Amino acid sequence: MPLHPDARYVTDVAPSSGRLVAPRADLAADSAALSLDGDWRFRLYPGVDEADAAASEVGFDDSDWDVIDVPSHWVLRGDGAWGRPIYTNVNYPFPLDPPFVPDANPTGDHRRRFSVPAEWVESGRLWLRFDGLESIGRVWLNGVEIGVLRGSRLRNELDVTGLVRAGENVLVVRVSQWSAMSYVEDQDQWWLPGLFRSVTLLRRPDAGLDDLWVQADRDPETGVGVLTIEVTADDAAFPVRVRCDELELDLTLNHARASVEVGVVEPWGADVPRLYRLDISNAVESVAVNAGFRRVEVVGDAWLVNGRRLRIRGVNRHDFDPVEGRVFDEALVREAMLLMKRSNLNAIRTSHYPPHPGLLDLADELGFWVMDECDIETHGYVHVDWAGNPSDDPQWREVYLDRARRMVERDKNHPCVVAWSLGNESGAGENLAAMAAWMRERDPGRPIHYEGDHSDEHVDLVSRMYAPLEELVRLTEARAGRPIIECEYVHAMGNGAGGIAAYEALFDTNPAFHGGFVWEWRDHGLLTRTPDGTPFYGYGGDFGEVFHDGSFVCDGMVLADGTPTPMLAEYAAVVTPIKLEVSDQLTVTNLRHDGSTADLVFVWVHEVDGVAVARGVFEVPAIEPGASASVALPDLALDAEGEHWLTVTAALREATPWASAGHVVSTGQRKLAEVARRRPTGSSAAVAEGDGYTLGDARFDRRGALVSVGGLDVTGGGVTLWRAPTENDSLATMGSYELGDPATTGGFGVPGPSSAERWRAAGLDRLTTRVLSLDASASGLVVVSRLAAAQASVYADVTQRWSWVDGELRLEVAVEPSDGWTVTWPRVGVHLVLPAGYEEASWFGTGPGENYADSRVAARVGRFSAPIDELTVPYAVPQETGHRAELRELVLTGGGLPEFVVTTDDGADGRPGFAVARHSAEQWAAASHQHELSAPTATHLYVDLAQHGLGSRSCGPDVRPEAALWPRALAGSLAFRVV
Ligand code: GAL
Repeated sequence: MPLHPDARYVTDVAPSSGRLVAPRADLAADSAALSLDGDWRFRLYPGVDEADAAASEVGFDDSDWDVIDVPSHWVLRGDGAWGRPIYTNVNYPFPLDPPFVPDANPTGDHRRRFSVPAEWVESGRLWLRFDGLESIGRVWLNGVEIGVLRGSRLRNELDVTGLVRAGENVLVVRVSQWSAMSYVEDQDQWWLPGLFRSVTLLRRPDAGLDDLWVQADRDPETGVGVLTIEVTADDAAFPVRVRCDELELDLTLNHARASVEVGVVEPWGADVPRLYRLDISNAVESVAVNAGFRRVEVVGDAWLVNGRRLRIRGVNRHDFDPVEGRVFDEALVREAMLLMKRSNLNAIRTSHYPPHPGLLDLADELGFWVMDECDIETHGYVHVDWAGNPSDDPQWREVYLDRARRMVERDKNHPCVVAWSLGNESGAGENLAAMAAWMRERDPGRPIHYEGDHSDEHVDLVSRMYAPLEELVRLTEARAGRPIIECEYVHAMGNGAGGIAAYEALFDTNPAFHGGFVWEWRDHGLLTRTPDGTPFYGYGGDFGEVFHDGSFVCDGMVLADGTPTPMLAEYAAVVTPIKLEVSDQLTVTNLRHDGSTADLVFVWVHEVDGVAVARGVFEVPAIEPGASASVALPDLALDAEGEHWLTVTAALREATPWASAGHVVSTGQRKLAEVARRRPTGSSAAVAEGDGYTLGDARFDRRGALVSVGGLDVTGGGVTLWRAPTENDSLATMGSYELGDPATTGGFGVPGPSSAERWRAAGLDRLTTRVLSLDASASGLVVVSRLAAAQASVYADVTQRWSWVDGELRLEVAVEPSDGWTVTWPRVGVHLVLPAGYEEASWFGTGPGENYADSRVAARVGRFSAPIDELTVPYAVPQETGHRAELRELVLTGGGLPEFVVTTDDGADGRPGFAVARHSAEQWAAASHQHELSAPTATHLYVDLAQHGLGSRSCGPDVRPEAALWPRALAGSLAFRVV
């Protein structure tokens, strides 16, 4: 049975309709406004057809309805009684049957009464504003239908003058989850229906300042500013006065548009976000506009702001909160943006829709280059080769154009917006071209971005996502003379991405590269509970979805709860705009867009074996953007035994709005010298005793596996090649570099199974051991064993030389692969199992965060300590975590247990790294959420001779060959002591 005619609006392909007000800027006006946020009556129906026709009537009795707070998503309220969130990435969660949607179309009636003072209806106009509702809303005011609202993340305003009554009014909004519009809102995110942004009644004075466009241009040569002001209002609104005390400006406009030169002004930029407050007023209304003077241009291959090329150190950001979904909370968003600033991020792409307008106010104030993206994505059509794609269907043209208009008009006054983006992953087509043409015409002052059409015909910025290095190089030729960016790269899913530094190094080689935006800021885990009440952050499939895309929604540099992952520190270190090179001198390069280095102090510390022995401050002259300077290193005494390191930090001299004084913007380090320490040699004899062997204070079983050291249960000591696959190991969205070298495959590798799949096929998760020889002698215990998997003919031979010297158990371990291996190894690690209960780790090695072969820039050499629980990262999906390369010494303490000390030697293969964790690689690999891990029964110590890199193949390139661990002979030497 087709939908009732009255419900068919849901599948109309059309922009919003009804008593619409023309799209206009988000303005801070002093005219009155009544917030309609708060408690609304709410009733959910299974489909739009089932909605109660009488609910729109004024006299309808809703007293037995539920109550919901607005703004909210109903699926995040009501404990599941109102449905649950659904996560899909590319896929539509309904049949590709446009413009139709399933009959099961959750539809929520929201009803609210409100009163307005009598004078509000006596004069002037009243507009009703909806900042966002998903995905379609039909609205009645006092029983009169006033509009059908579309465009979930776009503002709609309706003129309700004459409909509002003094005293009580009844507003009814019928929101349906699915509509024809869902076909163009297929972003990779949760489907979250509801009135999720504010509803406001605006009192618009007659002859008010309905729309203003303030363009603040600045000539980069002369610094002279020109203000162009466009007023959209009735004739009666004039004259309009424009004042800016700082600019000594007091201008009277008698018509809609005027330009005025305001002399030399300071530029607005992401590093120094200088705003000038303009007061624009007329007889009835006054609006405050923060103007930022800047000129955005694309000239040849340069994307310039104020005459200087942009270098995007950016991040893709969704409006997202683990409890509230896409509901905006200014205080929380400000916090997150301060963390972005402290992490050297300077740009935001508002993936994949115009954000809550408050985000742009914050970006103006704090300083971010913003790429404002329109609310359009039709990605699911990729599965049918884009056949029928709305982007190229004339029927959809008005929908596309309407969205372009509503974004540009709403956000046009923000200096932070330095590019418009047509949308995301919507294929190619005429409607996108029409959007670009309209935008260009309306706002020639900002370049246009869109990644989905690789012809790059309609855009000013050549953009790709996850393009490997080789492909970017190819683009510099194929798109020579045009600016290039990665609108998404270094996919932050789980542990990773590795290889960030390689991108940065490439960007430095050609000025056409303007950097990129990390995918993405935050995991979108939604706070939920297991049946027994354990809270956790759920992902796709955790809400009973029958069709979903699993953990792909958790791919942020901060976890769902806001905790930064080590990737954030890595990214900050890689992209820092203050480059410190410590060679035989210190060279400082200032890669900021604006601002000298005068705000920084350059502190040096001389450490011997991680202990500071001297410190001081470099006298570095103030360096202008783009320039560098070198200063001599201090004279230091380098004769003490141990490793001598010089660490230099560039730290803020004074507090800024985003960080306190002393905040470190950049770190550089160099090993100056090492004065070797002599270690005693000679071993006690290994003696057969009982069912095993004794060596000094260590006990081994009959196969030479460790049982205890100094009376402490320490078991294992064997070699493992397995790590719990990261999501970069487990997914294979791009080709494999194991199967095809990036150099010969244009960087794309060869399509093939994921590394984890290949590792499992090779049996690396189920290796068996066979002892080939065991030799107990006066110089210790030598065990040679063979690791191999069922049905495999390849193997690895492991030689362990145990000795007891000077009160410590030493282990020299060597691994030798057979011929014939065709897969990389995840790791070569010695695995020791200690009693549960250790609490703290302190170490001399690399830190503070986890680091891997292709993710090492943030790591420095020094002494660190941390609770064991903080050595690993609770990624949404448990996986390899916690490796820290180049260990010198590790001390485990706490839990009433004796101190356990591990030391390593520097050998031909460098120093081993380590990880300490509550769970083993096998336990992690078997769990798909953190809460599934059982209570710890041991402390797991891994000392790794090597680990495979991280890469970013969950959505991007595989581990580069330089960081890949191909089977090879490896050796290392360690020692254990129980104190
Ligand atoms: C891109 C897309 C993003 C996200 C990302 C992978 O294709 O634009 O929305 O899906 O991949 O996490």
